[in-house]
Amino acid sequence: MRLAIPALGLVCSIVAFLLYFEPPSPVCPSTLANVNNYEDVVPNEKPIVLLWFWPLGVKFDLKGCLTYFNIDSCVLTDNRTLYSQAKGVIFFHKNIAGDLQNMPQEPRPAVQKWIWYHVESPTNTAKTPGLENLFNLTLSYRRDADITARNELTIRKTDMKEDFVLPKKDKLVCWIRKRYYKELSKHIKVDLFGTAYTGHRLSYEEYYSTIASCKFYLSFENSLHRDYITEKVNGPLVAGTVPVVLGPPRENYEEFLPADAFIHINDFPDAKSLAKFLLGMTDAAYMRYFEWRKFYEATPHLLSIYNEFIQPICLACDHMSRDVYYNVDHDLYKWYST
Ligand SMILES: *[C@@H]1O[C@H](CO)[C@@H](O)[C@H](O)[C@H]1NC(C)=O
Ligand SMILES: *[C@@H]1O[C@H](CO)[C@@H](O)[C@H](O)[C@H]1NC(C)=O
Repeated sequence: MRLAIPALGLVCSIVAFLLYFEPPSPVCPSTLANVNNYEDVVPNEKPIVLLWFWPLGVKFDLKGCLTYFNIDSCVLTDNRTLYSQAKGVIFFHKNIAGDLQNMPQEPRPAVQKWIWYHVESPTNTAKTPGLENLFNLTLSYRRDADITARNELTIRKTDMKEDFVLPKKDKLVCWIRKRYYKELSKHIKVDLFGTAYTGHRLSYEEYYSTIASCKFYLSFENSLHRDYITEKVNGPLVAGTVPVVLGPPRENYEEFLPADAFIHINDFPDAKSLAKFLLGMTDAAYMRYFEWRKFYEATPHLLSIYNEFIQPICLACDHMSRDVYYNVDHDLYKWYST
């Protein structure tokens, strides 16, 4: 169908050529003259992607895919009457009822793909029975998911090299939410932010400027799993602060980040030696943690709960516009927990 316009144009030019000495045929030129939009000739071929649940019931503007990510390759909708026409249906794992009663009850169209959307760590994943062999695509932070949603460094365009200006630092070590912290705080001053400590959620500006004012930021994941490296690391990288990470082994971090962009807890035998290392760091040694910025850039993540879910959904939309393969995900939980 995408060939329709060029093909029509070709037919018209051939007809026009053949009719060169005849009175010009009015059909082709007038037909084309009436065409203002591609869609007037070629019906909208964007696949319909249905968001079955609003994640955790939080609604947001689906037009955000275009605004934030320049993705406009599918028709994203929450309108369940379009179920039978949808090429893809996104199911947010946490919303799925234990008895599966809130899943589609109508027959599943043969070529429709069901997308399992889950970005929590395996530790925080309720294994609802009956989902193991139901989905065609996984949408998760994992690199080996069918659709991977995470904050990744991008390669800088060479002509856009910024001279990095280190933000003004008035705090040494910060943390926004708490275990190892207690131990570390015996040896080094740690500033705490976030709802539990300040009584309110930091705004977008507050979040980045707060992190920027700290020399080091504790990017501690709540559980340790392969690839489970969250926005807790992205935040300091964006802000111009050195993340001190606790999560999967250093090797796993290095699959996503240059080795000298972060400090890994496992590099030290205990909290005391880490504190000593941070306190004793020279300015020159500190600045080396920003060398990566010459070549890569970190993209700010959308902070509010309204925006938190949008990036994965947009990526699923984009994926469905290109998806042509038959695909079944077997043993969902087995895959997720390994
Ligand atoms: C859902 O889609 C149907 C069919 O296109 C349409 O008639 C209906 O108005 C839509 N509902 C909403 C709330 O947009
Ligand atoms: C999607 O997965 C289901 C369940 O495993 C399977 O029956 C169906 O054929 C798959 N469809 C596609 C298009 O891959």
